Amino acid sequence: MPQGPIEVIPLSQHIGAEIRGVDLSQPLDEATSKAIHQAWLDHIVVVFRNQKLTQEDHVRVSKSFGELGHIRRPPKSFPPGFNRLLPNIMLITNIRENGEPIGALPDGEMMFHHDMIHAELPDKATFLYSIEIPSRGGDTLFASGYAAWDTLDPELKSKLEGRIAKHLYNYGSTQKGDKKGTDAFGQNAHPAVRTHEESGRRALYVNRLMTTGLEGMSDEEAAPILEKVFDHMEKPEFVYTHKWQVGDMIVWDNRCSSHARTDFPDNERRLMLRTTVAATERPRF
Ligand code: SIN
Repeated sequence: MPQGPIEVIPLSQHIGAEIRGVDLSQPLDEATSKAIHQAWLDHIVVVFRNQKLTQEDHVRVSKSFGELGHIRRPPKSFPPGFNRLLPNIMLITNIRENGEPIGALPDGEMMFHHDMIHAELPDKATFLYSIEIPSRGGDTLFASGYAAWDTLDPELKSKLEGRIAKHLYNYGSTQKGDKKGTDAFGQNAHPAVRTHEESGRRALYVNRLMTTGLEGMSDEEAAPILEKVFDHMEKPEFVYTHKWQVGDMIVWDNRCSSHARTDFPDNERRLMLRTTVAATERPRF
């Protein structure tokens, strides 16, 4: 069924836009799908408010961006709630049964990261849909890797240009070196600055949670460089902070943005469903 034109309202200077005039529970016509995809490329993160979505809707909308990404952590490390959902929908929640979280990334603050940067083929997009939210906190922060690269100090730029960064992730961990993760790890290396295959723009592709070093440099030499780069990437002027409402569906571009989460009360429920969209090529310089 044909739909009316969508409205795209920017949410900050460099990143984020709200899209109005779309009901994602209905199949999207080609023109609307194209307009959404373009808005996402232009704004990196797009937000749809007041959506009432089944899991099937969530999967259908995700697939309009490409092939669904697979959950990479080994099934033996799945929290129990994963198996109650359609395949490749990830449950992100602090809800516990018998004291054990039923979902992934249950509690509190989370450092900036790119989803699946520790995989050989990191997923290009993530969809996150909110079902239950706490009364305060649990915001998701999105940082533009384009704006951070464009404004990075030239000396730091020269240290990263053409360089491969190393990444390690302990599934479930939310702060580097915490003991919250599982016994399953993902590890990989990719260009520290990548060229986005659709926009042609360059984006910083390192993050505080998962990046462990730079190839061709000792960890002692790389650590202070990376620290300065992370501080720059996370400056408020490059960040959009999303305050969740129930029924928000967000899709972000993992190729040119990182994201983080603020703390929230551990005695209040937060429940989100997440899917990813697989990339078609490895990150390139
Ligand atoms: C994520 O990093 O995928 C989860 C973010 C959130 O819980 O807000």
